Amino acid sequence: MKTYMDRRSFLKTSTTAGAGLSLSWARLAPILGAAAAPALVHAAEGKPALLGGTPVHTGGWTRWPQWREAWEPDLLKVYRSGKWFRGSDKHVEDFEVAYSKLLGATKCLATASGTTALMVSLHVMDVDAGDEVIVSPYTFIATYNAILNAKALPVFADTDPATLTMNPATIASRLTERTRAIMPVHIFGMPCDMDPINTIAKQNKLAVVEDACQAWLAEYHGKKCGTLGDLGAFSFQESKHLPSGEGGAISGMSAELIDKCNSFHNCGRACGTNTGAGSFTRGNNYRMTQAQAVILLQQLEKLQQETAIRRAGADYLGAELKQIAGITPVRLPENSRAVWHLYPFRYDAQGFNGLSRDKFMKALSAEGVPCSSVYREQYNDGLLDEAINSRGFKRLWGSSRLKAYRDSFQELKGNQQVCATTVAIGQTLLLADRSNLEHIIAAIRKIQAHSAELAKA
Ligand SMILES: Cc1ncc(COP(=O)(O)O)c(C=O)c1O
Repeated sequence: MKTYMDRRSFLKTSTTAGAGLSLSWARLAPILGAAAAPALVHAAEGKPALLGGTPVHTGGWTRWPQWREAWEPDLLKVYRSGKWFRGSDKHVEDFEVAYSKLLGATKCLATASGTTALMVSLHVMDVDAGDEVIVSPYTFIATYNAILNAKALPVFADTDPATLTMNPATIASRLTERTRAIMPVHIFGMPCDMDPINTIAKQNKLAVVEDACQAWLAEYHGKKCGTLGDLGAFSFQESKHLPSGEGGAISGMSAELIDKCNSFHNCGRACGTNTGAGSFTRGNNYRMTQAQAVILLQQLEKLQQETAIRRAGADYLGAELKQIAGITPVRLPENSRAVWHLYPFRYDAQGFNGLSRDKFMKALSAEGVPCSSVYREQYNDGLLDEAINSRGFKRLWGSSRLKAYRDSFQELKGNQQVCATTVAIGQTLLLADRSNLEHIIAAIRKIQAHSAELAKA
């Protein structure tokens, strides 16, 4: 039986396993290329750990999330002050200003989560009941849910197997008179190819809401993800590179749109440019608390430093992995920089004597390198069936459109391929120093050298 672990459980397991190396800034030099790495034990040596041999890596990996005692006094101050709610103090606003500066955005709004950031963005971009939103299927289910919560239909563009993101060439055939927005997802912190997506949006007068929930500081053509469409949504949930337990943000280049988001996330109260008589709107409570903002502010510098380390780690892995038959690193759009929430590659069993992906992953985990197949074809998991069988959706679309919609999932050939062949390691492995990163490559080479044996086992 295939075992499936979702991305968050995988990240949790992979970061708490083992001794948990904590990140030492003194160890940055070798990662950033200042010193040569020690010679590696020949990869093919020894029996695979899955067959009773010694694992290549035994030291554990960086734990996540991380805590520093130095952060505690400011947090205690907030709790002792009794000023916990957004309106009682300035920390949330301070975070919004600092985060928008980091992104080069005109303005940001902090929210309770990434999901609520997406929901608010869709509402403000006027995605309404009966509308359709073109979205990537290869994402966390919260992306689907944010659209469904607007009583809108998530219509899937196909995934490009080379990039794992939305294939812009598949958007046009999904357009209908009900299409209102496009929601590209910068999955694993890898930017989507935004120029062609924005061009189609402009030609068809569609809003663009970026799901940048995994893409803090990722860049495309010199601009940060979250500033490339009308609005961008971020998550600060515990597993994320900038974590506060739960939390999120919306970024944008229009202060007016962010003010509208502010109103909607704050029970519809008037705000900024959205004030004056009759300016109350529909709304909800999706506010961030002061304590969350304090933790986030404290981690902004850490985020920037670690982003550089993850990038250096990913560059090293990419250069090594592309030399291994059967392993294909992901291609990024030109002039873009990922931030690697997970580090994915495509696995081809032919390069490994027919060793199945499941067995490959078991063997790699046994070598001390936790890995995951991440997202499966989630549109077959019942979530969308539950939605389209609901009274509301039937009323809004009618059964023949919903049947055609359901049937169209079969056409997502690129996404099927991606779900069947992707393997990923978590972001904390990229924080390891060069000698530990070499273990990842050595483990894969060892499995390849013994793949015929492993395939038979
Ligand atoms: C791609 C993507 N979209 C949306 C979300 C939702 O964010 P949150 O969990 O903060 O609601 C996540 C969180 O994991 C995500 O990875």
